[in-house]
Amino acid sequence: MRQDWIPLNCGENGLGRSYNIASCMPEAVAFQGVSDHSGLYKFSVNESDRFWGAVARQRLSWISPFHTVQNCDFSQGKIKWFEGGKLNVSVNCLDRHVQTCPERVALIWERDEPGTEVKITYRQLLELTCRLGNLLKRQGVRRGDCVTIYMPPCPLAVASMLACARIGAAHNVVFAGFSSEALADRIRDAQSSTVITVNQGVRGGKVVDLKRTVDQAVQNCPSVQQVLVAMRTENTVAMTDRDVPLEEEMMKEDVVCEPVAMDSEDVLFLLYTSGSTGKPKGLVHTQAGYLLYTSLTHRYVFNYHDGDVFGCVADIGWITGHSYIVYGPLCNGGTTVLFESTPVYPNPGRYWEMVERLGINQFYGAPTAIRLLLKYGDEWVQNYNRSSLKTLGSVGEPINTEAWEWYHRVVGDGRCPVVDTWWQTETGGICIAPRPSDPEAEIVPGMAMRPFYGIKPALLDTEVVTGDGVLALCYNQYCPLNCATPLLGFFFTGDGAHRSKEGYYQIVGRLDDVINVSGHRLGTAELEDVVVCTIIIMFGVYVFVVLKKAVMVEEDVLAQQLREMVSRSIAKYACPDFIQVVRCLPKTRSGKIMRRVLRKVVERNTDELGDLSTLDDPDSVHEVISGHRRLC
Ligand code: WT7
Repeated sequence: MRQDWIPLNCGENGLGRSYNIASCMPEAVAFQGVSDHSGLYKFSVNESDRFWGAVARQRLSWISPFHTVQNCDFSQGKIKWFEGGKLNVSVNCLDRHVQTCPERVALIWERDEPGTEVKITYRQLLELTCRLGNLLKRQGVRRGDCVTIYMPPCPLAVASMLACARIGAAHNVVFAGFSSEALADRIRDAQSSTVITVNQGVRGGKVVDLKRTVDQAVQNCPSVQQVLVAMRTENTVAMTDRDVPLEEEMMKEDVVCEPVAMDSEDVLFLLYTSGSTGKPKGLVHTQAGYLLYTSLTHRYVFNYHDGDVFGCVADIGWITGHSYIVYGPLCNGGTTVLFESTPVYPNPGRYWEMVERLGINQFYGAPTAIRLLLKYGDEWVQNYNRSSLKTLGSVGEPINTEAWEWYHRVVGDGRCPVVDTWWQTETGGICIAPRPSDPEAEIVPGMAMRPFYGIKPALLDTEVVTGDGVLALCYNQYCPLNCATPLLGFFFTGDGAHRSKEGYYQIVGRLDDVINVSGHRLGTAELEDVVVCTIIIMFGVYVFVVLKKAVMVEEDVLAQQLREMVSRSIAKYACPDFIQVVRCLPKTRSGKIMRRVLRKVVERNTDELGDLSTLDDPDSVHEVISGHRRLC
């Protein structure tokens, strides 16, 4: 890697024209000379102490005030925000809203069967949380312990997370689609004495024996002393001495539970990454900075207002669920949807039927689901009334132009801004997104666009990626996030990005996915944008193609068409050398393509596929391996 950094001037980054900022962000009144979004952005990076200090005092409720806004040195891996401050995250997410609007709906639990949703008010959620907090204490959980939660999205899962926060324990939510081995790995790593789960899960019309998976997992986890079991279905499951019936025991507890005063930098939770680029890594996020950043991005990236219904269809087992189903929305006193089902249950109209029935105002989903749904055609969307929608969000992968256009034109009827939000489990919150900015400001399809307040991206030139203006994306320490991979004082994200002459950012995929063809560097997102059927490229260029449901085409014809499209839109050198049509690609449980697995298959290194514990459908790998290589 070359060491020549290209310093970035983020001043002129198109954050918007003149716009009355004080009516948008109350704190901005105190920032002298700031009158528009662009000014506010500049202030947030140039005067970051004043910016974050004011925002933290205004938006969070503190038990004792902080004395230092930030004390960071990335080159030493030191990141400390709001030192001296004490607060409780559950108080910020619950108690203060119960004081002002106890009957406001906090959670809409959108259960698997459409039309059976359950609404939970702030008062009810606080009660559940306190009872659970008291139960955890009775079970011996103490401040600093780590509780593993293996539950599908449901109110008791959210209450469990908040109960941990209330009593000062950390949580470790494991996606309830993971196998017993993956769960056991994470329980052992977190050294949990307590696991919280449900008897069974219900997803896509199928019942899943989650408790049985936990039983298998804890056999190999000596740290586990008790498993609290909630009842999602009526079916009884075998209970052992270790198991505690959750509802029954929590009903014996008091509805008041004293919140613990936590230091700003105490651990809030542990979470493992999705494992798309290697063995899943465990990440830690802390209290104040994380909460402040998720609530601020939730408010401004999505333009969330009091009374809106926020629908993030991720699972709570991912960082997206932590930040934009639970902590961000609840800190803002919002109404947030917990989606238990799948995009195609009972049919491909599920999301939009739900949008109509619940009156969802902001919809936040993943490109992988959008691409899946667009294959089924527009009717599934148009059958439902989507007039409540105001903002459409995308996260997790680059969104190719075709999917972006469809999301915008068909789902949003051309009237809702599409916010393509770039961030990572490590960052905990959205770092690059088209908003906030002047509502009139331009959004370019497929571009994440602008850095959020306090984010100062830097583009790093590496030997892997040279020329063409495509560089690695980094940022430094101007925002209260707790991620540092100290590298010359920057946090290195591992993603490639373009910066346009207007200063807009486009993410071109993971750097480890960037390939070098005849000396030209090519990002996977770039090619995938042209070869609209989802694909990936490898050395030379090896394209895996997944066809739209309705497409019937000879492989020779397809190969010819792909080559023409690529050479027209990018260049001849980028044309595929091999093409293989597959039914589906190997993806992680969170929907990311496991490119490293495809790479091994192409290299014929199928004995070294690496960690597959987070793979969604093992058959997809077999299919890719057995499929023949076809020369274009
Ligand atoms: C990686 C992080 C962000 C929470 C969910 C995934 C890719 C994420 C985008 C986007 C292009 C994106 C990046 C990033 N990614 N959002 N809008 N455009 N790429 O979290 O599992 O930690 O993955 O997802 O490659 O580094 P994660």
